Amino acid sequence: MELYELEAVEAVTTRPLHQYDTLVVQQITPVIGAEVSGLDLSQELSEEQLADLKNAFLDHHVLVFRDQVLTGEEHKRLAAHFGELRPVNPPPLEGDPYILELRTTVAAADVNGNGWHADGTADEEPSLGSMLYITQVPESGCGGDTLFANMHLAYSMLSPALRGMLDELTAIHDGALAFQGRTPPREDYVIPVSEHPLVVRHPETGRKLLYVNGAYTSRIPQLSQRESRALLDMLIETVPSRPALQCRVRWEPNTLVFWDNRCVQHHATYDYYPFARYGQRVAINGGPLRG
Ligand code: SIN
Repeated sequence: MELYELEAVEAVTTRPLHQYDTLVVQQITPVIGAEVSGLDLSQELSEEQLADLKNAFLDHHVLVFRDQVLTGEEHKRLAAHFGELRPVNPPPLEGDPYILELRTTVAAADVNGNGWHADGTADEEPSLGSMLYITQVPESGCGGDTLFANMHLAYSMLSPALRGMLDELTAIHDGALAFQGRTPPREDYVIPVSEHPLVVRHPETGRKLLYVNGAYTSRIPQLSQRESRALLDMLIETVPSRPALQCRVRWEPNTLVFWDNRCVQHHATYDYYPFARYGQRVAINGGPLRG
């Protein structure tokens, strides 16, 4: 690796982490993800537990909780501690307007999120984060893992000269890209398009992060078409080509994962055909994105 890449990794692996009084945190990798134990998420959490949880979320970006038995209402109550609940869009025809069901039926041709992305970045204000609660894992007993990548590190591993240039640019995020020629789910669904800084500052920590993803980012308006395509392809390729940015979460029944959608990309893995998988996701509203 180049010296600036090593320095970027070192800055993350030696970052100061909070001390937690009410929970146990075990890192999944030195740069992203942690398993959290000592909490029953179906219960109302104390102020101290919530403070520890918020610090752990900012420290590790992806938190994994095992053996949780939650109703939809308890799932929503937990998410509401982090912000306003985000309605599912387009709204489900039946069921709870805040709970997105992720159901892979037996022998489905594909699954939601089977590619690196952050959720809804074509929206003007994408979500703060999501809590995905998986209750049914594939009958094969394995498969269906979710991968996560640290976009702070993706940014800081770029050369200082390139970072300086990216700091001045914006990018268009186009919801039509995610449909890839397929018709949107509903006739009344308005496909969102937004322009965001290419390098965003995390609203709570102030740390910079690379804000492009292959599912939604279509163009850098300050560059020619050819330059924009070449630069986006290179930046988007950063995540799949660098395992050092990533962690992989293996699901067990009754696992809840809470990820920070502002600084993390994720990828559902469809390696369990022809088996089924089921979970429910509650998302939290985010605020404006600033460079
Ligand atoms: C998603 O939110 O993109 C789906 C993640 C998953 O099913 O593992």
